[in-house]
Amino acid sequence: MVKVGIIGLGGMGNMHLGCYAAVRDAEVMAVADINEDKLHPGESSQQINIGEGKGQIDPERQRLYTDADDLIADDEVEMVDICLPTFLHAEYCKRALAAGKHVLCEKPMALTQAECEEVLQAAEDADGMFMVAQCVRFFPEYEYLSETIESGRFGRLRQLSLWRGTAPPQWSWEGWLLDHERSGGGLVDLHVHDADFVQFVLGMPRAVCSTGARGPSGGWDVVDTEYIYDDKMAVRCGGNLAMPAGFGFEARFTAVFEKGALGYSTAEGHGLLEYTPEGVHHPEIAHRSGYEKEIEYFVECIDHNELPAMVMPHSSAQSVRLVEAERESIETGRLVQL
Ligand SMILES: NC(=O)c1ccc[n+]([C@@H]2O[C@H](COP(=O)([O-])OP(=O)(O)OC[C@H]3O[C@@H](n4cnc5c(N)ncnc54)[C@H](O)[C@@H]3O)[C@@H](O)[C@H]2O)c1
Repeated sequence: MVKVGIIGLGGMGNMHLGCYAAVRDAEVMAVADINEDKLHPGESSQQINIGEGKGQIDPERQRLYTDADDLIADDEVEMVDICLPTFLHAEYCKRALAAGKHVLCEKPMALTQAECEEVLQAAEDADGMFMVAQCVRFFPEYEYLSETIESGRFGRLRQLSLWRGTAPPQWSWEGWLLDHERSGGGLVDLHVHDADFVQFVLGMPRAVCSTGARGPSGGWDVVDTEYIYDDKMAVRCGGNLAMPAGFGFEARFTAVFEKGALGYSTAEGHGLLEYTPEGVHHPEIAHRSGYEKEIEYFVECIDHNELPAMVMPHSSAQSVRLVEAERESIETGRLVQL
């Protein structure tokens, strides 16, 4: 049983706390949040754009800390799950790794490539394992898409387009999500999910060509990128953190191959669709949250003492490199080579 301490019990910390109930071989034995109000015993929940995380705070089973460093110093905690605002990721990853813990950190690894380099070094020097929670890689519909690309069962990929959008997030601690200096804006906070998925399944593109618009965070909250590969295929990705409040949240993709196509949306009543010359159907996939799966995967890696090959640290750092290149492209109006 891997003993886990969660740092940051906001939207995502609550989501993770709720997930552990369904994760084999892990128990949350400590939680830390700077805001004492988040540590009240009983059900802890928070509604965010992607749903509501619900966990149980139980002082009989969990140690409650208002100082994250006390959780990191707790000898019984083996794995630290960092759900802090993004501008704190690098610092707390380094602290937890230096203390000999296994570390799971919410995406993105850090705000900048320079910070990622520091985390990569800390992970290399550490005894514990390190993984960034790139949840999209674990969502069954996106797994189905990567398997379809990799197996070649529909022939070559000709066109891939991914998009996600959300109304401006209102739930965050001290409003950090609506301050691009602390969140990176929609480009780094939201769009990084799809940028990560693109480079995970197709490798890093040769160049990016991006356009964008500023939004409520003061940064690039609207982005549209053409990923340029030497193979002849069209790959495009968009993100928007400035949708009207009534919009809520949606993630979607369309993938067109030589002999078939896939379409997916989180919008009500849509799901995953597979198009072939014979018609259209919903492929059978196991419906399980990518959050549960990513956590369970990392716990299994710890249990088996195997590196997290699904999300190696360097690969997560590449996603930050990619969105930085996209920012440069937006700001210069030029194609940026990678
Ligand atoms: N994978 C996903 O789909 C997804 C979705 C939302 C957010 N996220 C990521 O999760 C992370 C957290 O986002 P969120 O929406 O939960 O933010 P949030 O503001 O809701 O939660 C952050 C929590 O950290 C606490 N905190 C702040 N400073 C602290 C400190 N020094 N020590 C201890 N606690 C501290 C706050 O009190 C708050 O409870 C971000 O990196 C974000 O990008 C991922």
